[in-house]
Amino acid sequence: MDLSPGELKVLEFLQKYGAAPIKETDIRVEGMNVREISSSISWLEAKGYAITTKNVSFLWKLGPEGIKYRETGLPEYRALKLLLGDGDIPIRDLVAKLGPDEMKIALAQLAKFGVKPSGGMLTAPLNGKAILELIEQRQSMLDRLSKGTTDPSLITEFRGRENLVQELKLSERTVSLTDKGRSLRVDKDIEEMLGEVTQEMLTSMSWRGKKFRNYDLNAPVEKISTAYIHPLNVLIHKIRDIFFKMGFTEMRGHYVEYTGWNMDALFIPQDHPARDLQDTFYLESEFKPEFEHPEILDVVSRSHERGVRSYRGWGYKFNTKEAQRLVLRTHTTVSTIRSLYEDHEPPVAIFSVEKVFRHESVDWRHLAELHQVEGAVYAKDANLSTLKGLMRHFYHELGFDELQFIPSYYPYTEPSMDVVATLDGKEIELGGSGIFRPEVTIPFGLKYPVIAWGLGLERLAMLLYGLKDIREIYNSDIDWLRNFPVRI
Ligand code: PHE
Repeated sequence: MDLSPGELKVLEFLQKYGAAPIKETDIRVEGMNVREISSSISWLEAKGYAITTKNVSFLWKLGPEGIKYRETGLPEYRALKLLLGDGDIPIRDLVAKLGPDEMKIALAQLAKFGVKPSGGMLTAPLNGKAILELIEQRQSMLDRLSKGTTDPSLITEFRGRENLVQELKLSERTVSLTDKGRSLRVDKDIEEMLGEVTQEMLTSMSWRGKKFRNYDLNAPVEKISTAYIHPLNVLIHKIRDIFFKMGFTEMRGHYVEYTGWNMDALFIPQDHPARDLQDTFYLESEFKPEFEHPEILDVVSRSHERGVRSYRGWGYKFNTKEAQRLVLRTHTTVSTIRSLYEDHEPPVAIFSVEKVFRHESVDWRHLAELHQVEGAVYAKDANLSTLKGLMRHFYHELGFDELQFIPSYYPYTEPSMDVVATLDGKEIELGGSGIFRPEVTIPFGLKYPVIAWGLGLERLAMLLYGLKDIREIYNSDIDWLRNFPVRI
């Protein structure tokens, strides 16, 4: 038996009283409220025991203005009475008696009968009595409307007048049984099948010998949408997976960094335009933490001032104070140099997918907070081909097979290459890469080449999810979050 006790009770009622279609509101079942009855009807229909039809009807009642005018009289009624009493009346007096708002309504309504002011006066028309009769009828309709009506002819007079009448849309179902519903025998046996077991039944053992209703495992249920992984995180998981499979170790860095690490250690000169307030978020703080590796500043400053080996450096006076300023890291290459400082037993293969900050104005292609896919390999034989091969493999795993490497410039790499991908005919710049310069590696005691890259994550997401605007990733559009197209 696939009917619940409630559905059975409603069915029983319909079998008794529902020979002809019956209104849903006329169905009464003891112990069930309107909502329960209504839902049982829907289930009976879904299960083929009943059919319903929906009827929409309207009920009209007085609105707030209607209620008022029923007491005081419609403005046009009051005005006409005054007019018929006095013969004519200056508009000024009409305003004084009716107030400005009702005066306007009265004039507009009377104008429909040809009664219009001239020279600031309203004059009684010859057919005044006849008009009054019509308006009196109108007034009396307010009485009839106060009880509510379903007769549309009663409100035609008032259509288009604000707040005079209120329209209520009533939609009601009528229910009738199908053959299947009519022929089912609702006997006591069925009714007494147990749907749930209460504590009382358990302690009193009254459940013994009773029959239990079966669960309908195929019953339709609502789709539950909860706890999805954000599209960007789906991509991050995938990327981490790719690097883990290649044997890389994940790095974790900090949002707040010393310029000494974020820039100086990477041989970015202290007067480099990227250090400008326009591009970088500097942090001001009463608390001035000590640079944790002062010895680094010594070797780094020498590299800036005089260079290493036969490389000449930038040739300016290095400012140690400048290196101790705090910034929101502008790239995750800072994690690479930090990691290589701490552990450079070759070979080293490291990566991270983390957030960086740029003082940029946000538009369809730029964000001020974005993620970078950073990585580096420190190994005896690492070279440009290794770098290109890694990039090709990484992007191939994500579904991009058309890559170009474009010569570029970064202060810390030589040569430098930008990675450009093509998808569906569109080219997009994904980020930079290169081989660390000796001015970066030698001060840190690195003997072998370091190949490194820093790629934009959101750009990639844009391509993969077909977004026209990079900001859409962070829009929290529920519809998109539930149904984003997975291409990875
Ligand atoms: N750090 C660079 C950027 O933020 C990318 C890059 C990383 C370039 C490593 C070369 C080497 O755009």
